[in-house]
Amino acid sequence: MNKLADHVWARTFPNLGTDPVPVDPCISDEYFHREKEKLFKRVWLKVGRIEEFSGPGSWKLKPMPIWDTTIILVRGNDNRIRGFHNTCSHRGNRVIWAEEGRGRSRSFFCHFHGWTYDTQGQLTDVPQEEEFFDSFKRCDNGLTPVAVQVWEGFVFAHLDPQPPQSLEDFLGEAGTRYSGFPFGEMTAVYSYRTVLNCNWKVAQDAFSEAYHVSTIHAGSFPDGFAAKIWDVELFGPHRSSAIYMTEKGPKPTPVASLAHRLGTSSIAKPGARTELPPRINPRRDPTFAFDLAVLFPNFLVHVMDGLYFTHQFEPIAVDKTLWEGIQYFRPPQNAGERFSHEYGQVLQRNAWLEDTATMEATHAALKSGAKKFMHLQDHEILIRHGYKAVDDYVNG
Ligand code: FES
Ligand SMILES: [Fe+2]
Repeated sequence: MNKLADHVWARTFPNLGTDPVPVDPCISDEYFHREKEKLFKRVWLKVGRIEEFSGPGSWKLKPMPIWDTTIILVRGNDNRIRGFHNTCSHRGNRVIWAEEGRGRSRSFFCHFHGWTYDTQGQLTDVPQEEEFFDSFKRCDNGLTPVAVQVWEGFVFAHLDPQPPQSLEDFLGEAGTRYSGFPFGEMTAVYSYRTVLNCNWKVAQDAFSEAYHVSTIHAGSFPDGFAAKIWDVELFGPHRSSAIYMTEKGPKPTPVASLAHRLGTSSIAKPGARTELPPRINPRRDPTFAFDLAVLFPNFLVHVMDGLYFTHQFEPIAVDKTLWEGIQYFRPPQNAGERFSHEYGQVLQRNAWLEDTATMEATHAALKSGAKKFMHLQDHEILIRHGYKAVDDYVNG
């Protein structure tokens, strides 16, 4: 019997092969160094949401350890969001004196000697300017920029101020697939984050398949979701798929039934799916749960009717990753909807605790060197594609 005949994704994407995948890229310092230099410093990375920049002067200070810097993102008087290294042009002090944070100001004042920059990064004031020499010009000494562009309200940055590819071109069809989803209406936010002692790919892989649901999530989602993924599409380094519920669907508890009745609360709520762009749940199947997309390299977007959620896995070191999971709802209009959201976000929090609980132990076990390869099954195709996409940058 030709077993491969049953393997829908291996047949659909034969160039990805079926071999075991080496674990070395998850534990090798040398591979991590190359990921940093050849991948993360050369692609667009998501750094925020447009709602975080409510008006001119709104800023966010964001550490970017994978770029060896911290950036200031700020909305200028012209309403454009720009990004700059948090490094003073005089002698390199931090301009915003913090590790991270948010605020609103008309200018940025370096506390060391008082150089001042406006929200467009231009140097506007230099105490005792007459003591400097002819080689110094204010206009050449603004803050050092990074590139910033926005896709569907997600703010992305590129370390190169003149990136070789626009964000739109970088995302390509993976971006157009989501056009029309009302991300901008869903501004009620619940977020969780922590630093995990594992490689960023170990963390991301745990969110890139449904094979683990019946075991890891036996408590949160008993018998709720099918273990297979469907509607897989690969777009260059990006990828997407869909998760469906089982035929029976999750058996709601009394409190889940109440939450489902009162509002759009949870990925485990069965029912009609209506506001999705046409390529997501294209058959309008009522068992559709949510879309699972990986926008390369490290940003996951999941959409369904009435809510979306994201994950990001920011590498800090070969064995250290900042994970952040965020759920977005439409602002609740009444107490029932608020209750429904709280139910949904707490359920999701529990599931994310179940997911993240595996990661540090997995990394430690891989680091032992006991196993050189991992065996991926057909419905772990997103993970298989992920390792190839990273390797294309690292060894390309
Ligand atoms: S280092 Fe910033 S003003 Fe001197
Ligand atoms: Fe999970």
